[in-house]
Amino acid sequence: MSYLKDADPEVFDAIIKETNRQATKLELIASENFVSEAVLEAMGGVMTNKYAEGYPGKRYYGGCEYVDIAEDLARDRLKLLFGCEHANVQPHAGSQANMAVYFTVLKPGDKVLGLDLTCGGHLTHGHPINFSGFLFDFTGYVVDKETEQIDYDELLKDARRVRPKMIVSGASAYPRTLDFKRIREICDEVDACMMVDIAHIAGLVAAGLHPSPIPYADFVTSTTHKTLRGPRGGIIMCKEEYAADLDRMVMPGIQGGPLMHVIAAKAVAFKEALTDEFKAYQGRVVENAKVLAQTLKEKGHRLVAGGTDTHLMLVSFIDVPKVTGRKVEKALDKAGITANKNTVPFDPEKPFVTSGIRLGTPAVTTRGMGTGEMVQIADFIDRAIKNRRKDEVLEGIANEVAELCAGFPLYPERQV
Ligand SMILES: Cc1ncc(COP(=O)(O)O)c(C=O)c1O
Repeated sequence: MSYLKDADPEVFDAIIKETNRQATKLELIASENFVSEAVLEAMGGVMTNKYAEGYPGKRYYGGCEYVDIAEDLARDRLKLLFGCEHANVQPHAGSQANMAVYFTVLKPGDKVLGLDLTCGGHLTHGHPINFSGFLFDFTGYVVDKETEQIDYDELLKDARRVRPKMIVSGASAYPRTLDFKRIREICDEVDACMMVDIAHIAGLVAAGLHPSPIPYADFVTSTTHKTLRGPRGGIIMCKEEYAADLDRMVMPGIQGGPLMHVIAAKAVAFKEALTDEFKAYQGRVVENAKVLAQTLKEKGHRLVAGGTDTHLMLVSFIDVPKVTGRKVEKALDKAGITANKNTVPFDPEKPFVTSGIRLGTPAVTTRGMGTGEMVQIADFIDRAIKNRRKDEVLEGIANEVAELCAGFPLYPERQV
């Protein structure tokens, strides 16, 4: 019995089609994942009805005793997961988490260093079309032209030249390990606050597969919906000394009522992330990424920074005449593979065209795919790129993709 089907068949139909799309195509968008049924259930529950401005035990509304339980569980589990001193689980999204930290520490016009968008940074790390770029005086640091990795000596030079009040690290499209200890040393050298945005690598950090910034950073922000495999949302962790100012900045500073249904679902996801099963899953995500990257390289594709240490990789077409990220994204889509075009370091193309694609393994690994399937997927991608103008070849690959996906069912009870 579906209430939605009766009440709103149009929305119901769109949701069913989206469920089928997720199940029958290969999801390689590095920032996406598939949450558990338990997370979905918490997110779709009655806590969506509750206004709970404030924090557990100190709300502006009555009737908060049960949502308080959910938020306390989410905060406590997050602290345990990352070993942080203070946690705020209310940011509606990663962008709000970053905004709250900036507003806690910075005044409009203050100088900040953030990784340039074309080198893997996020819009909220100072891009001119984003609030971060409107309000603060960001300077973008870039990766080394040869290694396509961050050169920490150059970052130190940038820091000495700019004298920023804050250095933002973390990225949306950087495939290599970040050296948080070194970044802390650079921050100390110029007396800058250290903020790390682990939106992409949070699951890896939680599982101990990427060094943690927690011992070094003043603030660590993240989304909960990427490698962490929770509901769509944001979180902030910080040292105790900033806790009161940060909480005040999240609410009432930039947000009103927290999304209590999402916070309940965050608590469920953090419980899952504390298990050995989750650690093993993250290990498979990284292993799958390495195999996918290596197989693509063996087929002659160029990977930014030579490969990956994480869950994601960037295939660069910067040296391939007439091939762009946009064209490859379209060809992959026709072949049943969902990925996104992405700028690569020093990309001459505009963000809507780009010279690369970004691929990630969190979602396919959640479905149960392993290294054998990664070799198969690399073959699909290679053939789709080489036959990008031949629709009949792309259709054939889409059939093979659907066959592969059928062996790894996703949300079977939700299919109609
Ligand atoms: C590094 C990084 N920070 C922040 C965000 C923003 O998160 P949201 O889309 O939830 O606002 C993203 C999203 O892609 C990201 O990759």
